[in-house]
Amino acid sequence: MKPLLTPSILAANFSNLEADIKAAERGGADYFHLDIMDGHFVPNISFGPWVARQMKAITDVPLDAHLMITNPREYIPRFIDAGVELIYPHVEASFDVYRTVQMVRDHGARAGITLNPATPISSVEGVLNLIDSVLLMSVCPGFGGQKFIPSTIQKITDLRTLLDNQKPEVRIAVDGGVTLENIGNLRKAGADFFIAGSAVFKAPDIEKRVRDLKKAMQ
Ligand code: DX5
Ligand code: ZN
Repeated sequence: MKPLLTPSILAANFSNLEADIKAAERGGADYFHLDIMDGHFVPNISFGPWVARQMKAITDVPLDAHLMITNPREYIPRFIDAGVELIYPHVEASFDVYRTVQMVRDHGARAGITLNPATPISSVEGVLNLIDSVLLMSVCPGFGGQKFIPSTIQKITDLRTLLDNQKPEVRIAVDGGVTLENIGNLRKAGADFFIAGSAVFKAPDIEKRVRDLKKAMQ
């Protein structure tokens, strides 16, 4: 599967968001990642569907939304209506994750599922028939700029084996602490989507950094 680079706008300059988006776009961003935090599921608050809608108005690059929120089903329709194409609820946030993922699909978007660092990969098995990708958190969710948790590499390898046996077309996304230095190894381990916030938007030249990350992930 072709590797895809997904800049996370959490690390972008919100007083001049469009300039950062356009620079990442010129570099060849394959997706943009929207980190949605409710101050309850994670100890931080970010932004809501209205930012997704404004993003949609300025870029043709597809959007995903990573829902770090306690009540994903209350907000899924709003994000899809705002133009988000791929939705990643957390498996830890839903007492009935099957229903949540089904709702994403019923509203016409593609569904992913997100696992926190300590959540076992077996927790995706019950929804494999409904999802396009599994997002492995490689930091504790809530903040950008954290250090990559090294045990994620083994988790990617194990998840790739599980998927190859059960549903090989499901992609693996990795989110948190992705850098120019580790992206090549993450690809070798079996990841397909690379979500990077600081590595992209804190770079001196965003466009060039996207290009360099894309080269390094091949
Ligand atoms: C963390 C978010 C990540 C974050 C990644 O809760 O889910 O998407 O933006 O940021 P970096 O790449 O800086 O670790
Ligand atoms: Zn994220």
